[in-house]
Amino acid sequence: MKTPPSRTLFLSGMDVKVYPDPEAASIAAALLIEQIVVDARAKRGKAVLGLATGSTPKRVYAHLVERHRTGALSFRDVSTYNLDEYYPIAANDPRSYHSYMYEHFFRHVDLASNRAHVLDGTITESLTEAHAALFERSIEADGGLDAQLLGIGRNGHIGFNEPCDLTPERAITLGTRLVELHPTTRADAVAEFGGMDRVIPRALTLGIATILAARSIIMLATGAHKAEAVAAALLGPVTAQVPASLLTYAAPRTTWLVDHAAARAIAQA
Ligand code: GLP
Repeated sequence: MKTPPSRTLFLSGMDVKVYPDPEAASIAAALLIEQIVVDARAKRGKAVLGLATGSTPKRVYAHLVERHRTGALSFRDVSTYNLDEYYPIAANDPRSYHSYMYEHFFRHVDLASNRAHVLDGTITESLTEAHAALFERSIEADGGLDAQLLGIGRNGHIGFNEPCDLTPERAITLGTRLVELHPTTRADAVAEFGGMDRVIPRALTLGIATILAARSIIMLATGAHKAEAVAAALLGPVTAQVPASLLTYAAPRTTWLVDHAAARAIAQA
């Protein structure tokens, strides 16, 4: 796998690499993750990855799996923590992010099953707070996230941290928790769930504070439908109404990998 050619912009203090198409951006993301695993392993004897779901990272997982198949990359000393999960949902429900991760990544690589962490969509509601706190403590006990892979919602969300009225200073302290999904997010999930009334309206999500604490943040955005959100996050004000704009708080540690279509509205910047 070779690093595809890119054009680099510098926006809101962040490197934004623009690739010709989603495939090239995904290869770049996989190579970056591989490099982070190699470096963390050399430094600490292990690597801790924050993983994302959605349609965007599927190609990234395919490339990482391919690297594993060819013997170039092992996940034996890697722990993973997923960004989010619908709530309530059973792990074996085909629409769950547990199922997604198993299907696209976990079952194809040598990651130990007890090191692959996904928030539990079956936890009793009164225990979700304790479950979220435990998830965060596990990340800390593992030494923190070496990298957090992110996608962006059409409304600028990261994980399931939806647009909200909080001040940016308050929003960046948000921890892992149970949330209500934004109407745009629910609309985008209609195809997956087979109807608006069937979309699960709540979810567990890693908090913005937890995301921002990662030693490296990789934001992958592809497709024309993401162009507006990408521009709002990179060119607009830093606001909790566009949660991805809060990544500027971790600007030196954040890299945006976008394809040409998603970069449409920032290309002239
Ligand atoms: C989903 C997920 C996010 C994801 C985003 C974009 O709802 N909760 O973690 O990054 O929305 O999804 P997609 O890549 O399918 O556009």
